[in-house]
Amino acid sequence: MSARKIIIDTDPGQDDAVAILLALASPDEIEVLGLTAVAGNVPLPLTSKNARIICELAGRPEIPVHAGCDTPLARPLVTAEHVHGKTGLDGPDLPDPEGDLTPGHAVDFIIDTLRAHPPGSVTLCPLGPLTNIATAFRDAPDVIARVREVVLMGGACFEGGNITPSAEFNIYVDPEAANIVFRSGAPLTVMPLDVTHKALVTKPRNDAFRALGTPVGIAVAEMTDFFERFDKEKYGSAGAPLHDPCVTAYLIRPDLFRGRHINVEIETRSDLTLGMTVADWWRVTGRAPNATFMGDIDADGFFTLLTERLARL
Ligand code: BDR
Ligand code: CA
Repeated sequence: MSARKIIIDTDPGQDDAVAILLALASPDEIEVLGLTAVAGNVPLPLTSKNARIICELAGRPEIPVHAGCDTPLARPLVTAEHVHGKTGLDGPDLPDPEGDLTPGHAVDFIIDTLRAHPPGSVTLCPLGPLTNIATAFRDAPDVIARVREVVLMGGACFEGGNITPSAEFNIYVDPEAANIVFRSGAPLTVMPLDVTHKALVTKPRNDAFRALGTPVGIAVAEMTDFFERFDKEKYGSAGAPLHDPCVTAYLIRPDLFRGRHINVEIETRSDLTLGMTVADWWRVTGRAPNATFMGDIDADGFFTLLTERLARL
């Protein structure tokens, strides 16, 4: 089987970084055509710089990194320095990138790449707010039918929210964009908090990253150490959830995840529940399914895969 061609749309973010490293460590299964940065965890200048830092850490400086949208479609940007630190990648001491961003807007890169490849051959992997993807779908609706699959981290059902009681961060930051993507008709696979809150970096799992002894292993241990402080205190759990790598792990080992093909709508009007993913898990509405919404993960299998792949970098 040939490697799956993907674009990673991202707002690094320590967990974005690990998701990118996992993809770059898995060339038999995944061909990363490029990274597109979006404003989210931190503002765009930092997310685009961080995306380059991670490519260089992985020894892949040739991967194109395009900067994209710096504000959500219809609202001011909300960021998450309280989780990810001032740089978005707080924790390890990583050098500034040597290479430059690739010229051209991220949205143009997404559109041009989808048009340049055969229909159904490029998968989009959004790990942040959906602003870039929605802008591409809005400005060039012809590309929607060319997408093989959108595999994204965002939303929640039974788990509630993490930025508000009812909304997950990526969807909350740009609910109008999420609404466009969820209504686009493109095949969607969603990794919500219901899954990612089961992918906890416990101490033995963090120790396993560090024990790799490589610059990548040590950086991942230091990154997960950093945001663990916040999440452990918040959730009282044994470790912090490693959200975004669920997306790239799914491309390699879909059998690690379980979900349902259901209807998911995005709340864009209520102040109270803005950005909620209203997931019809029990199929009570009769609304047409538009997403495979994951609910469970084999967490041990996930961390074994991750550690084994990171060891290759
Ligand atoms: C999501 O929000 C960000 O803080 C993380 O990078 C992840 O993509 C989790 O809600
Ligand atoms: Ca992210």
